[in-house]
Amino acid sequence: MEPYRIKVVEPIPITTRDYRERRYAEAGYNQFNLTAEDVTIDLLSDSGTGALSAEQQAAGMRGDETYAGSRSWFRFREVTEELTGYEHILPVHQGRAAERILFSALLKPGQLSVSNTHFDTTRANVELAGGVVRDLPSPAFADLDSDEPFKGNIDLVALEELLEGPEDVGLVLMTITNNGGGGQPVSMANLKAVRKLCRRHGVPFILDAARFAENAWLVTQREEKYRDHSPREVAKKAFRLADGCVLSLKKDGIVHIGGMLALQDTELAKQCELLLIATEGFSTYGGLSGRDLDMCAQGLMEVTDPLYLRERAEATAYLADCAREAGVDSVRPAGVHAVYLNAGRLLPHIPPSRFTGHALASELYLAGGIRCAEVGSLYLGDIDSSGDLITPAPFELVRLAIPRRVYTRSHLEYVAETLAGIAKNPEQVPGYRLTEIPPILRPFRCRLKQI
Ligand code: F0G
Repeated sequence: MEPYRIKVVEPIPITTRDYRERRYAEAGYNQFNLTAEDVTIDLLSDSGTGALSAEQQAAGMRGDETYAGSRSWFRFREVTEELTGYEHILPVHQGRAAERILFSALLKPGQLSVSNTHFDTTRANVELAGGVVRDLPSPAFADLDSDEPFKGNIDLVALEELLEGPEDVGLVLMTITNNGGGGQPVSMANLKAVRKLCRRHGVPFILDAARFAENAWLVTQREEKYRDHSPREVAKKAFRLADGCVLSLKKDGIVHIGGMLALQDTELAKQCELLLIATEGFSTYGGLSGRDLDMCAQGLMEVTDPLYLRERAEATAYLADCAREAGVDSVRPAGVHAVYLNAGRLLPHIPPSRFTGHALASELYLAGGIRCAEVGSLYLGDIDSSGDLITPAPFELVRLAIPRRVYTRSHLEYVAETLAGIAKNPEQVPGYRLTEIPPILRPFRCRLKQI
């Protein structure tokens, strides 16, 4: 059960199918164009959508809004230093600001950023800095149905080959957990091997640690050597394997806004600090209020609580199990922050060119007011200017991202029931065609129609 009880509640909109059909058509069949009033259960993102604890709210009240050197900053620094062990801590307003600053300082034009999988803003920021991304996901991820424990790993053979070859690698970035790769965890053994390879080749090793606590939890559950460790001990060890991290605190900081860049290298940190002051704010607040810094510090203490992590992982697995019983498969084994539904398998009558994942995500909205996003050809496919799919994504998935401490099991059961209703008559679900295609960031701004 949840190791907390609810003290503040917020009504959620209960709407009719007619209303949703009208609103979704007005939204150009793009869920990013829906408003809060249109959505009953919002599984679009687990980022910045969590519920604050009473202690976080109290910490917020203690927030010190002094421009430079506030007490909130020192509290934030104490907690983040103790957790990560990094010497230089730079607060930023959210994860992508840390990415932009780090890559601008670190990457030379044409240099590679190599990862288990770059998250989409991470990819965009590498490219904006003149770098080139290379994803080397573990081959185990190719089988969505296998129960391999660490499908989020990087492919070590491919990484070693790349580092020994002629290409110029600027950094290796390990995303824990691997959000672009089914929310799957990375093992400590994999991180250790990456560290060794990076050391040997003199390449910086950085963590994208947005879900560091959830990764640590799965390590304690799935990696023999760490069974007796607490999630916090594992998280601390993971941070200490790398040379620094970019960290969106909107996930495992359990705050609505916040992020950080932390580094060991003093020269690099100095360059980043100047960029931070120029673009985010002075280095003791970095675009955050004192209140935010205090709430982040408190959230970082709470998030490694094993009782909280166990319940969250079990709730996610419960949703995946209910969906499977209803006939909807998802990427196995279940991770923590999201369930990735296998839309391709449920809707074989809709080809990737008609956006299978988007079709399932749309039906979840129309049938139940549930908002979520596809991770398939609409997002990852190669699409020409007339909207035709040239190269499909490897899989047609739908991500049900679960906000932290927000929904109860009965909300998840409602999601599973809605899925069960869809699975009874999957052939009635229509496909989609693009009508407006922005040149970049397609999923956010595109419009579609049903066909
Ligand atoms: N890295 C990972 C692995 C992420 O999942 C995200 C954000 C970021 C970096 C960027 O952080 O949003 O604070 O700027 N992921 C959100 C999501 C948006 O829904 O998965 P940010």
